Amino acid sequence: METTVSGTAAQGPRLRPSLDGIPTYKPGKPAGADAYKLSSNENPYPPLPGVLESAVAAAGSFNRYPDMAATALTEELARRFGVPAEHVATGTGSVSVAQSLVLSTAGPGDEVIFAWRSFEAYPIITQVAGATPVPVPLTAAEEHDLDAMLAAITERTRLIFVCNPNNPTGAAIHREELLRFLDAVPGDILVVLDEAYREFIRDERVPDGIELYRDRPNVCVLRTFSKAYGLAGLRVGFAIAHEPVATALRKTAVPFGVSQLAQDAAVASLRAEDALLERVESLVEERTRVTAALTGQGWTVVDSQANFVWLRLGERTLDFAAACGAAGVVVRPFPGEGVRVSIGEVAGNDIFLATAEAFRKEL
Ligand SMILES: Cc1ncc(COP(=O)(O)O)c(C=O)c1O
Repeated sequence: METTVSGTAAQGPRLRPSLDGIPTYKPGKPAGADAYKLSSNENPYPPLPGVLESAVAAAGSFNRYPDMAATALTEELARRFGVPAEHVATGTGSVSVAQSLVLSTAGPGDEVIFAWRSFEAYPIITQVAGATPVPVPLTAAEEHDLDAMLAAITERTRLIFVCNPNNPTGAAIHREELLRFLDAVPGDILVVLDEAYREFIRDERVPDGIELYRDRPNVCVLRTFSKAYGLAGLRVGFAIAHEPVATALRKTAVPFGVSQLAQDAAVASLRAEDALLERVESLVEERTRVTAALTGQGWTVVDSQANFVWLRLGERTLDFAAACGAAGVVVRPFPGEGVRVSIGEVAGNDIFLATAEAFRKEL
């Protein structure tokens, strides 16, 4: 019997209708040759010498697949954080580990809760998995509204992202508040503490998620080499999670996703941590300087614990971003809401501050 195929070639392949509503990820705008890029929370410093050498050495083996289990990196991370190697799962940037976490827990009919505005990938990866995003507005102080997030839990909730400190506002959650929240979340819901900016935290009231995960099987911590460690372009991040979450991450990850170059550079970065963290310290000093200058100009600024600052500009957001662009710094506007500005080179920060001062006088 002849098989009949419905549809015509002109219609093209049938895609999942649920993709229609998904926004595409908007990366920070690239900067021209003579502009400072303060739009993607990158580390402005070039790779450390030892890190560069290990990456160059790995480039000699491009004809081979990478170590799929990322054995050396996993062991180095397990040692560094005092966790079992089985609890470490790596991925192509922490965003891909976040996606694997959603794929591992949620599908059609399930819900994923996160603060909003927060990291813009959360609603995207939730919908890619077919699940329903449940955004919970930040408080007026630009912080997670943990009580509202608890109230948003239903029997369909499978995962909750907690971004600490929050991208793009920089606000961080304190220990007591977070512990109260974790104690109230049912044990069958996975709580992901996204700590992409952990190394920039100086407020001692903000807990280290890795201490909180240890005796909580439903808590997992997400970290990255993209920010403090300066390897954004190499794409490597990781989760620390109990079994069976870590095993699920290994199942849902794209095979061979982390290149050998990225694995070796990440190991070298961990071994060069003292030098790297000195650079982080100078970025933190710059953050303090930029925050104080903005406050002096009359802006209301969140005490950012990350490598960026946030200005809530509402309807003036795009005007402000355009003024920065014209002055030679590329920032990250969220139209109608505000502008996120990464802490970068001193000269770039100075241009941003001068633009903010002039703009403030017009308001
Ligand atoms: C909160 C947060 N999580 C995760 C990521 C993802 O970083 P990467 O995929 O480079 O590790 C970012 C990057 O902007 C972020 O801000």
